[in-house]
Amino acid sequence: MQGLQDAKKELLSKYFYDDIGSQLFEQICLLDEYYPTRTELGIMQEYIPEIVSLLGPGCMLIEYGSGSSTKIRMLLDALHNPAGYVAIDIAKEHLQRSAASLAAAYPGLAVFPVCADYTSDFTLPTSSGPVSKRVAYFPGSTIGNFDREPAIRFLQQIAKTCKGGGLLIGVDLKKDFNILHRAYNDTQGVTARFNLHLLERINQELEADFQLDQFGHYAFYNPGQSRIEMHLVSLKPQVVHIEESEFSFKLGESIWTESSYKYTPAEFAQLAVCAGFAIEHVWTDAQQLFSVQYLKVV
Ligand code: AVI
Repeated sequence: MQGLQDAKKELLSKYFYDDIGSQLFEQICLLDEYYPTRTELGIMQEYIPEIVSLLGPGCMLIEYGSGSSTKIRMLLDALHNPAGYVAIDIAKEHLQRSAASLAAAYPGLAVFPVCADYTSDFTLPTSSGPVSKRVAYFPGSTIGNFDREPAIRFLQQIAKTCKGGGLLIGVDLKKDFNILHRAYNDTQGVTARFNLHLLERINQELEADFQLDQFGHYAFYNPGQSRIEMHLVSLKPQVVHIEESEFSFKLGESIWTESSYKYTPAEFAQLAVCAGFAIEHVWTDAQQLFSVQYLKVV
């Protein structure tokens, strides 16, 4: 809870994703206003033959933040003899359920669920069979939730893991800020619930007494920083207790809960090159809302 002691209060967005948070995120992905998921799936669908031919036969797929493992099915349906699928996720029950249903749907496939925070150190399972190369899969533009330096460090870690292979990644693109605003302020309030769930989680797991109706969801596009910022804003002066500590909030004071950076293809290429990758191919939709990119480890 260190981030709540700072002058600018902040909580790390990775804490959204317990089982309930992961389910709320899946509801977000189905919203009309949240264009990234369906756009990315559309790009994958359209270009799957090209994608699969770049990945080649016999590759070991490693998905960082596998969630419900839906997008990977499109790859698994089209790939030739994948050597296996490693699903890494922080939400244990969600991971186990998804891995079991995937193993049932693809009987010949070796599925390795790994419950871990993929930004920290963890051990990858080794396959007993032959592997042509390791290909990391990081869809959904989750890379946008990292600040620039951590993004480079994380991509460097993937490059090390996938030496001789590559990375298939979803990257959200810069666009009209009205489209962005709607995507993070949906009319059904699912994104607001997702954001507030962070406080609910602290209440449950850390004996805290956040009053959920006394904080408001606030998300906006910061053009100078090319990012959506998501905050929880205190609706009154109040004191919150977490275990033995007290945290006071002024009226209008915010907790910064998430950043979601948007890139031009050239800006993302710069980042990828810094991390040790070469851009092999970039696929986008007709409106240039989103991109799917295959990067090769140099
Ligand atoms: C997971 N991540 C890419 C989502 C995003 O768009 O930054 C998380 C999200 N936050 C609010 N809506 C969706």
